Amino acid sequence: MTSAASASAASEQPVARIRASARLRGELRLPGDKSVSHRALMLAALADGESRITGAGDGADVRSTAGIVAALGATVDRVESDGPTVGYRVVSGGADALRAPDDGLLDCGNSGTTLRLMSGLLAGLPLTVVLDGDDSLRGRPVARIIEPLRSMGAVLHGRQDDSLPPLTVIGRTPLRAIDYTTKVPSAQVKSAILLAGLRADGRTTVRETVATRDHTERMLRARGVPVRRTDAPDGSVEVSVEGGIAVRAVTERVPGDISTAAFWLVAGAIHPDAELSLLDVDVNPTRRAVIDILRSMGADITERPHDDAADDGIGEPMADLTVRSSTLRAIELGPVEVASAIDEIPILCLAATVAHGTTVIRGAGELRFKESDRIEGTAAGLRALGARVEIEGDDIHITGPIRLEGAETDSLDDHRLAITFAVAGLTATGETSVGRPGSAAISYPGFFDDLERVRA
Ligand code: S3P
Repeated sequence: MTSAASASAASEQPVARIRASARLRGELRLPGDKSVSHRALMLAALADGESRITGAGDGADVRSTAGIVAALGATVDRVESDGPTVGYRVVSGGADALRAPDDGLLDCGNSGTTLRLMSGLLAGLPLTVVLDGDDSLRGRPVARIIEPLRSMGAVLHGRQDDSLPPLTVIGRTPLRAIDYTTKVPSAQVKSAILLAGLRADGRTTVRETVATRDHTERMLRARGVPVRRTDAPDGSVEVSVEGGIAVRAVTERVPGDISTAAFWLVAGAIHPDAELSLLDVDVNPTRRAVIDILRSMGADITERPHDDAADDGIGEPMADLTVRSSTLRAIELGPVEVASAIDEIPILCLAATVAHGTTVIRGAGELRFKESDRIEGTAAGLRALGARVEIEGDDIHITGPIRLEGAETDSLDDHRLAITFAVAGLTATGETSVGRPGSAAISYPGFFDDLERVRA
């Protein structure tokens, strides 16, 4: 690709072709955080009144959530769009006014967050719906939410012994409050139970042995629902919510997506002549691990917190980040770091290919259950580019530094892989092709335009 005009078109091609750039320069405003955008729309559906959301992500996943909120009877208007973000005005009569669409079908597209959080939200409402999505979504595990939501009294059924979507949810009001320890570190599971807990007959508690992102907790507090969260010194967490408290309609500004910023942090760190700035990025303590991991690897990242970034556990602290060309060293990551940088592991693997030494990522099994098997998909693409990658069970070993060589890669229709391999192409020799690049639009519709913008 050589021009901006070809950039937008690139994502629509079966293959995107990328050549190295002599320099990387620029200042980027990123799409609104995907996790926060989903939750803002869902909580707007539960609130009685008018909610406003600015700066939301405009990827296909967030659109799936917006579509479902509208299908449940709320009025959802796209009110403004500002570069890579979109604003929404949502008017709802509150949880009790939500209705199943005539055909009962709710299309979650490619979005696991939509499917799992919506299951929790709907479990406490007197309606019957079927949550379904694309082929990739039909391969994502749902037993992890069926079990706790059933124990709260809702009826849920999945395909293949309740392991896969489509997922039928027959809600019940009120639900039984539970005290539940999650079996996998998953903010989606925790959030589904907390959303169901809003409609339960007492205090619902979720315990996690490994902490996950806390947006649901923060956003419920911001809407008048008290949430207790205790982080123990051993890293475990206990979160609880009282049923029966109304969710207030609010105006929320969604910060820039740190999972998207991560691609540019790595691009800048591994490129020999780079300086990139990323504006208004969410640096929530439960999401910022990728910054700290890259710094431990030697990445030159400067962080300028926003004046109002004081963290009260309600809003999302933001910062502007600048990354410059760096020399990286290998790192060892365990299950706790994997959970806190779950969506950034593919791009961290790319960083590891050019880092000095052997990077070891242990306990990455959850990556097999994302939009693709991200352990195998990342390894296949990076190996094609010449990287030394070994997989042992759920552990990944990458030995560097290597000189990345342009080659054919396949995103497997997974947005995080499409963007990872395209970023690799910015430093690899020759031409890198990325198969099925359109998947980038799941979280980052403007990615290929931004890629052209930073090739100063
Ligand atoms: C998300 C949680 C993570 C993450 C996903 C978004 C969320 O999934 O991978 O992209 O918004 O809660 P798990 O909680 O299943 O790990």
